[in-house]
Amino acid sequence: MSHADEHEGTRRDFLYYATAGAGAVAAGAAAWPLINQMNPSADVQALSSIRVDISGVELGTQLTVKWRGKPVFIRRRTPEEIEAARAVSLEELIDPKAENANLDAEAPATDENRALDENGEWLVMIGVCTHLGCVPIGDGAGDFGGWFCPCHGSHYDTSGRIRKGPAPRNLDIPLARFEGESTIILG
Ligand code: FES
Repeated sequence: MSHADEHEGTRRDFLYYATAGAGAVAAGAAAWPLINQMNPSADVQALSSIRVDISGVELGTQLTVKWRGKPVFIRRRTPEEIEAARAVSLEELIDPKAENANLDAEAPATDENRALDENGEWLVMIGVCTHLGCVPIGDGAGDFGGWFCPCHGSHYDTSGRIRKGPAPRNLDIPLARFEGESTIILG
């Protein structure tokens, strides 16, 4: 994804969603803007929040949406991915912090602190390598079965935590929440 293509703050951002590099993408899933013409404050909110329909995302696949000019990975993890992520002890981690905007900055990087739901099925992360900003490859890529950034060889685990390579931090988790069972609100 080229930065030249991005126009942060324009409506175009909210009508576009990226699929490149995402591997399997759910059919029928879509992102749409929160725009309420009648309400100025909702317009302001539209600049920072989007709703994502996740009803078509199959287990073991990832949907990539564009939000605030960046790709956001929304992965529906398999039981194996969740189990692998939860079996890792904090001592093994390069970045011991959850890097989750929904939690305290000091929250530890347990998988429970990174997944969006209690069961750990949904993992929502900014899809930007914390080294120099490439978009990592997903679908079990890399030595830890999560994501791999080919730019300089950073390996992320199934919780999006950096495990090997030059990236200093876990993939960031944006403000996100469920609205009902089939919608995630970013921002
Ligand atoms: S930008 Fe990802 S490893 Fe350098």
